[in-house]
Amino acid sequence: MDANIRHVVVPGTFDPITYGHLDVVRRATRLFDHVTVAVAASVGKRGTGTAFTLDERVDMAREALVSQGIEGVDVAPFEGLLVAFCQEVGAGGVVKGLRAITDFEYELQQADLNRRLSPELESVFVMSSPEYGYISSSIVRELSALGSEVSALVPPCVEAHLRERYGERR
Ligand code: PNS
Repeated sequence: MDANIRHVVVPGTFDPITYGHLDVVRRATRLFDHVTVAVAASVGKRGTGTAFTLDERVDMAREALVSQGIEGVDVAPFEGLLVAFCQEVGAGGVVKGLRAITDFEYELQQADLNRRLSPELESVFVMSSPEYGYISSSIVRELSALGSEVSALVPPCVEAHLRERYGERR
């Protein structure tokens, strides 16, 4: 029998990290011994550039995890293929959150692609908690750019970075 999976990667663009992402990471820590948050250098799913640099996104993820008391999680940037990163760090699986049905098609496609590239790598999905079901980084960026309150969607440390980026318009 194959060895149990102990180390998983939670990948994403994290532009910026939200309470929805943090919920997925927290739950991954309950399921697996070792969790690495992998921050993708490349563009997000809509093919657009990011609002925050890779370093900023990594730093925000680290700060946010600490601020939420989520301990023992590594945060690392990665460039190129996710399967190559997983191999590099010795992770046996990828954990992602599924929000609404609209996530499903996209995630299924990615999981299928990753399986073709690396058949041993397992894709594991956790269902988003209802309170985080409709949070996305793009909504957070849009609200911030329009000067709206985002304290229900991201931790205060991330909100401070958003204010720096988009200015105080309240
Ligand atoms: O936060 P996102 O935008 O949903 O994250 C998507 C991400 C970064 C996990 C995905 O685009 C990814 O794995 N990118 C790395 C490149 C890669 O491996 N592509 C092939 C699998 S789709």
